Formats: sequence, C-alpha cells, structure tokens
Amino acid sequence: MRIVVLNGSPKGDDSVTLQTVRYVSKQQEGHDWHYLNVAHRIAVLERDEQRWAEVIDEVRGADLVIWSCPVYYMLVCSQYKRFIELIGERGAADAFAGKAAAVVTTSIHFYDHTAHAYLRGIIDDLGMRYLGGLSADMDDLPTPAGQAAARRFGLDVLTAATEGRPAARQTAPLPGTVAAYAPGAPATRVDARGRRVLIVTDHHDANEPLAGMVRRMAEAWGDQAEVVNLNDLRISAGCQGCCHCAYDNQCVFEGKDDYIAFHREKLQRADIIVLAARIVDRNLSSRWRQFFDRSFFLNHAPHLIGRQFAVLLSGPAAHLPGLREQLEAWVQLQQANLVDIVSDENDGLDGLLDSVAQRLAQAAADSWVQPKTFLGVAAHKLFRDEVFGRLRWVFQADHRAYRRLGYYDFPQRDWKTRALNAVMMLLTRSARVRTEIQNRMRAEMVKGHQRAVEQG
Ligand SMILES: Cc1cc2nc3c(=O)[nH]c(=O)nc-3n(C[C@H](O)[C@H](O)[C@H](O)COP(=O)(O)O)c2cc1C
Repeated sequence: MRIVVLNGSPKGDDSVTLQTVRYVSKQQEGHDWHYLNVAHRIAVLERDEQRWAEVIDEVRGADLVIWSCPVYYMLVCSQYKRFIELIGERGAADAFAGKAAAVVTTSIHFYDHTAHAYLRGIIDDLGMRYLGGLSADMDDLPTPAGQAAARRFGLDVLTAATEGRPAARQTAPLPGTVAAYAPGAPATRVDARGRRVLIVTDHHDANEPLAGMVRRMAEAWGDQAEVVNLNDLRISAGCQGCCHCAYDNQCVFEGKDDYIAFHREKLQRADIIVLAARIVDRNLSSRWRQFFDRSFFLNHAPHLIGRQFAVLLSGPAAHLPGLREQLEAWVQLQQANLVDIVSDENDGLDGLLDSVAQRLAQAAADSWVQPKTFLGVAAHKLFRDEVFGRLRWVFQADHRAYRRLGYYDFPQRDWKTRALNAVMMLLTRSARVRTEIQNRMRAEMVKGHQRAVEQG
C-alpha cells in the first residue's frame, strides 16, 4: 500500500508527531511510505506551483493519507491551515476524494479534541474515508504505553485501509456563502469614555460582508476606534515551534516583522478589542491562525487580562460549534470578557452590531468579566499542572507569571478544606453520623444559598 504522510509541523523532519508515524511505519513493514513536509515548506508550495503539483500528485497516487501534525492553539498550525486552504483555492480536492485517511497529533491535550474535530471535518469535506485518529501526548512515544497505543492505532488503520473498511461522515456539509452586507442607517454612537478600542480584521476587499461589519462597528465608536487589518501587517511567517521564547518571552522574529510590535503597542494597550475574522473552510483564516500562533511568544500566561472582547465572523459560524468553543476558551484563558460573537449569517446586522458596541462599552465601564465555564476552568487547571510540572524548566517565563498571578492554587494548599475533610472523614466512620448527614444533605447544601437570597 502506498501511504502519504502530510507532515503538518513547522519543524519538518524534527517534528515530534512525525516520530509517532515513523514508529508506526516500522511496525507496519511492506508498505511504501512517503513523507511530505507541507507545513515546513508552505512558503515554497504557495510560491511555486510546480512543487505544489508534485505534492498533489503524491496524494493522487496514495492509498492512505495520514494527516500528522501538532496541535497549535486548539487547531493545526497556521502553515498547515494554509496548506488546507490551498487545496480549496487551487481546486485540488479531487486528488483526495475517496482516499482512506487517518489523523495523528501530539500535544499536551489542551483542546486536542477541537483540532481533531477540525481535521475530521476537512477529511469529510474532501470526500475522504476517515479510518481513525490518534491524539498522543507529546511525551508518549518514548513510553511503553505510548508505543502500544501507536502500534494499536497503526494496526487498526492499516488493516482498515487494506480491507477498504467503509467510513461514516461525521460532520454535515457547510452551506454556501451568505448574503452580502452593507451597513444601513448611521450607527448608534457609543462613548468609549477614554478607553482604547481596537478592531482587528482580515478582510481583503471593501465589498466583503466582513468589511461592512468592520465599518459599522468602527462607525459606532466614531474616532475612538482604531482598525488594523492583519493583511497590512508585515508578518513574515507563522510560529516555528522553536520555543526560543520560553525563558523570557523573546521571539526569534522580534524586530524582523511587525507582529511583536503590533502585539505590544496596539493589542496589549487596547481595552476593548473586536476580532473580525473570515471563516475559511472550517475555522478562521490562516492569517488569523498566524495571529494566534505567533502570540505563543507569551507562552501560556494571559496577556489581555480584563479586556472586553467581541468577535465578528463572516461565514458559516452557526455550523461550527467547535470554533465558538475555541474563541470562548481563548478569551477565558486571557481572564477577559467575551461580550458576544456575531456572524454575518444573521439578519438585522446593523442593530446587532450597534448592540454589541453598546454592551462592550457598558462591560468596560463595569470592568465586568463573566465567570468562567468548564472551557476556562479546565484549561486553567491543565496549564497550572503542566507549568508547575514538566514544562517549568523550559517555560520559565510562564512559571514566573503563574507565581505572580497566584495561579498555583492547588487543592493541597487549601488548608481549611483539608482540615474539614480530615474531621469529617473521621466522624463519618460512625454509621449514626453518616445517616444524620444523609438525612440533612439537601437542606445543608442549599442553606448558604437560601441565606444569600434572604439577605439579597
Ligand atoms: C505555537 C504553539 C501552540 C501550541 N498550542 C497547543 C495547544 O493548543 N494544545 C496543546 O495541547 N499543545 C499545544 N502546543 C504544543 C504542541 O502541540 C506540542 O509540543 C507538539 O508535540 C509539537 O509537535 P511537533 O514537534 O510535531 O511540531 C503548542 C505549541 C506551540 C509551539
């Protein structure tokens, strides 16, 4: 069987993920394996149509395509995203149609499920047959359990591909483009009360619905808002995954393009931030993905604490719950507030956008940050444990930030609860006490809340 591995790591041959695939290939001999560094070589593939055609020819000749990549900001890296976009832009989907497909990622399991869901959707859209996915921890492969999981995955996928096992589509096809939007009557003016308002967009031309949404939003703030188009910034490349930034937040691209200066001087200084983004295939455009990936120079520490956010989307947002989840999680990780996500699928956009502007201003005036959901709470605990544990000696800037922010809120430090637990564990050895507690459980659980209601 001819197997083509589409390596989606910016690190090319040094990819950690790729080693898992190579390990599988050693277990599954007698097949013809081809490795293509499509993320690492994205600039060449974009520039040189001949090189691009070579990649597509390889795919055309494959029996099985393995999508192998790291998880970057809950998705794939911007370079791999661009590769996927080019398949659509250059009409190459037919080379993928009908082929067997599998996905391998490595990560620290932070939103690996949204990256897998994305790739599964892309595989469905390309008409491929999804045969399985492996989400390995980045440190799994050197361990016996990690190797066993890789072997099992390899055996399963290769058997399925050999037997021509059928595969179910998991995602619904996306609807086509939405109606045009041009702002109508003048927007209701909003007073930012001296706060800085920044609108960041990636629209390409003034007639796009997104451009209209940006105009409407900007008009609501009058001259209080600044609009920055990511396409006007000089961003030389996506994050390289080198982790050079881990000790002191110094990026290798510092001074070499506009990104870091934009981040420090505009984004971090803004109080109210509107992200206006095009959806391309099943997520934000690769330009926006680059924006997120490159923010990795600040590692896992929040850098936009307390800011007010709104997201304006152009594209089939209502069909992409995973994208919404990613945006909500990202804002919650920033310890910031997400006022709303509005897409151009809606009627009555003028009023919706005006209302978003008003709510942003009000939330900023109140310094309001909504309580986190599972998305942010779980993320906090995962990063807390990772930075305290195995990541600490590398991500020293994170460790300093986490200490400063009081992020190491482990339950072991909660002495009051520990003492209560010890006493109650002892007391509940008695059957009489246990029965008494069981009888009073409901009343005791709600007592404090009822008191709050009475006093409120
Ligand atoms: C810019 C960047 C973003 C990352 N984002 C995530 C993430 O969202 N979730 C996660 O679990 N790991 C994340 N990671 C960790 C990588 O997924 C992990 O190190 C992976 O093993 C790298 O694989 P590779 O060597 O094949 O590129 C990120 C790493 C970088 C550099």
